[in-house]
Amino acid sequence: MIKHWSFLLIIVYLAAQPAVATPHATDANVSRPVSHAEGTTHTSHTDVFSPASYAKVTTNGTHANLMRPVSHPEGTTHAPDSAYLFSYTTAKNNDRSGLQFAWSQDKQQWHVIGNRFAFLYSDYGRWGSDKRMNSPWLIQAPDGIWHCIWSLNERDHLFAHAASEDLVNWKRQSYPDITAGANFLHPAVTYDAGQQSYNITYTDANGKQFRITTTDFKTYTPATAITTSRYSEGSVTITLPEGTATGQVHRVPWAVVDRLIKTQELAQYNWQQQAESSTKDNERFAMLQKPLQASITLHPEKAKPISNLLLGIFFEDINYAADGGLYAELVQNRDFEYALSDKEGRDPNWNSTHSWTLHGDNSTFTIDAATPIHPNNPHYAILDTKTPGATLVNGGYDGIPVKKGSKYDLSLFTRQPDGKSGKLLVRLVSPQNNILAQTTITISGNSWKKAQAVLTATADADSTTLELQPLTAGRLALDMISLFPQETFKGRKNGLRADLAQVIADIHPRFVRFPGGCVSHGDGLNNIYRWKNTIGPLEARKPQRNLWGYHQSAGLGYFEYFRFCEDIGAEPVPVVAAGVPCQNSGPSAKGSGQQGGIPMSEMDEYVQDILDLIEYANGDIHTTWGKKRAEAGHPEPFHLKYIGIGNEDLITDIFEERFTLLFNAVKKQHPEITVIGTAGPFFEGTDYDEGWDIANKLKVPMIDEHYYVSPGWFIHNQDFYDKYDRSKSKVYLGEYAAHLPGRPSNIETALAEALYLTALERNGDVVSMASYAPLLAKEAHTQWTPDLIYFNNTTVKPTVNYFVQQLYGANSGDKYLPGTITISNDMNREDVRERIAVSTVEDTRGKAVIIKMVNLLPKAVQSSIDLSGISIADADAVKTVLQGSPDSKDARPVVSSYPVTDKFNAELPPYSFTVIRIKTK
Ligand code: AHR
Repeated sequence: MIKHWSFLLIIVYLAAQPAVATPHATDANVSRPVSHAEGTTHTSHTDVFSPASYAKVTTNGTHANLMRPVSHPEGTTHAPDSAYLFSYTTAKNNDRSGLQFAWSQDKQQWHVIGNRFAFLYSDYGRWGSDKRMNSPWLIQAPDGIWHCIWSLNERDHLFAHAASEDLVNWKRQSYPDITAGANFLHPAVTYDAGQQSYNITYTDANGKQFRITTTDFKTYTPATAITTSRYSEGSVTITLPEGTATGQVHRVPWAVVDRLIKTQELAQYNWQQQAESSTKDNERFAMLQKPLQASITLHPEKAKPISNLLLGIFFEDINYAADGGLYAELVQNRDFEYALSDKEGRDPNWNSTHSWTLHGDNSTFTIDAATPIHPNNPHYAILDTKTPGATLVNGGYDGIPVKKGSKYDLSLFTRQPDGKSGKLLVRLVSPQNNILAQTTITISGNSWKKAQAVLTATADADSTTLELQPLTAGRLALDMISLFPQETFKGRKNGLRADLAQVIADIHPRFVRFPGGCVSHGDGLNNIYRWKNTIGPLEARKPQRNLWGYHQSAGLGYFEYFRFCEDIGAEPVPVVAAGVPCQNSGPSAKGSGQQGGIPMSEMDEYVQDILDLIEYANGDIHTTWGKKRAEAGHPEPFHLKYIGIGNEDLITDIFEERFTLLFNAVKKQHPEITVIGTAGPFFEGTDYDEGWDIANKLKVPMIDEHYYVSPGWFIHNQDFYDKYDRSKSKVYLGEYAAHLPGRPSNIETALAEALYLTALERNGDVVSMASYAPLLAKEAHTQWTPDLIYFNNTTVKPTVNYFVQQLYGANSGDKYLPGTITISNDMNREDVRERIAVSTVEDTRGKAVIIKMVNLLPKAVQSSIDLSGISIADADAVKTVLQGSPDSKDARPVVSSYPVTDKFNAELPPYSFTVIRIKTK
């Protein structure tokens, strides 16, 4: 899994999604009309808290400032009317090179467009191991639309189709199922003008040949066996600089080739920009000799309301964020439900006995499933003691930390299958074999009974073990063996680890997303996060495989989540699967992998599940699900207002059909709930465009965008939302983070995020919410970096990026105050101006104006700030500065009081984030 996703992220980092390389804001095919953020104007040297339009693309898709030769054929000064276009792929990168092009005027001399530059990638299957494209066949329909059919692999009984108007922007892919032959190889497509249909012939692994026909590439006739394949007839093999390739040649207008060339060149240019990092800053900014000056003037009269929910958190059980992390349970595998399938069979020791060992002789420890406490929790332990002395030991999650004097709630279910009674000694033992706490439990009867006791630790220890020793001979059944610190966050039963929860609360998040991320839609249909499995008595909850390669106990379930939101004053934002599993699901179980969806015959039930979640959160205690909430100890509603449907899903017809059902049902039954749709895992591309198309079509009120990108991307795309149409869906930037090679959390990435957050505040009228992702990572159990907060059993380690989030969270506003910033001595360099960003918000309830200033340059900036028009209540402002060298991981905010007047100066140190909070009348 790690590899797959790393691969994905490398792709993001390099912006290697060239099929959609035209930037979002100028892409003619993006159906969001473009308008400017209110209150922003662009002047050349004086910029309104946003980067100028330097190096951006003009509306026709060409790059205004990019000094590149016009793409005329070599040796000519005029473009030809038409050219030959060769479409092909190569087997390089394990068949993942995608659809490429070369052009020629004479079919002799061929010019490849870009160096292995692909305009279309296969989206089928897992990142890393799948996503293969073999033998693509490109054909142009009479209406001008291009259709590409390709073979996916030798394994699956499917093929792929995608269509495009211009060969640059490709519509959603489909993966039709064929019924004849072992698989689908070497397709050849021809158009039958008489029938107005397409014949697709293919070969299977046994050399048999088949034909299917279609008129629309949506429905296909059943495959029939034929005797000859046409593949060789319509294909040519051409020698290109990197070897021979086989594909199709089309005669096309030069404009088609020109657009492909420009797209590739633009992508190249964007890559260069996005790859900019601080390592070259000294060289890049060596020309800045004089001190930089920034004059900042606010225009409070132009204030505009912005979302007061902008900064929230993304919680996903990744990196042991829940079990072994925020969920305070100290016993690992308390329910004996770890299973080989959690790790897809890769670890033979990952089974029901994981984390448990039997020490001593004359006893056995086995797992049984004959008489479980609950069918959702089928496995339990049997200790068969011939002579007392042996001990069943649990090592917790890297040990069980205890603090002297602290109390721990022990609970366990026991049963004496032989009907006898007996005693069980329970102890907490240090690595030095010191007993730090102990109790004895009496067991009786042949039916499951819950026993409880409190253990008080007599000393501090980072890593104790929990030991259970039967004091009587005989068979003893044990399950749900649990140890909880009484000191949980807010003292909640079955609660959260206090120190970790407090660090999260200190962000002042206005909302909490849950349960992810990929965990919400799962690896295949069977792994979709079903909220009903995560509520009620712990022993009746249904644990499951965590797609990040471990086990999810469901102990931190929907009830605990809603309660946490309430405890920290944040809005819950649950994200449910849109009836389809994760993009990265394996296609192994046919129909239930990435491209499958919940069968339509089962969708009514699934839709009802989602409606029931809303009832569980908000329903009256006399409703079925409201009653369950009350039974859990919370008769008052949780006041749920938002629900996300889908998580960066592959946008296919299968997705749209299911999403539409869910959206319409929630809208009809709960018009008070804001539904959040999804627009893929990238800031551009097919899922992004198609996700937005669906949102526009259905008028989805909000849409969830995700992008993990380089600091260079954040620097050069601060105007991303300035151009969003304010009349369309609002945006929830549900996952973002700045990624550098090696994935550090450092000042460079933190400041890039701080810089971008100024743009989000400026666009707080369209961007309603944003959450950095992922939130938590347990050291030595991390599947994804960077994360906002690292921790081990005893220490919480916020990153520098955390402090950026925290400073924004603690200094949020409900009004944006536009302003102008004039930078001098910048040598008229846009790359200098882009690295200085300012955002000013007003917190009307807290009576404060907050100025946030980011300096991502290696030089200090002397700023002079004009607050005219703002009624300052206290000349003593609070200034917080986070500053360090770009690679610093240890920088911490420094808070001081700072005198302010209507006009005051403040130095912005090199590589710094400065927040000045001023009390207002
Ligand atoms: O944040 C980690 C993962 O990144 C999420 O689970 C997924 O939605 C995204 O791809």
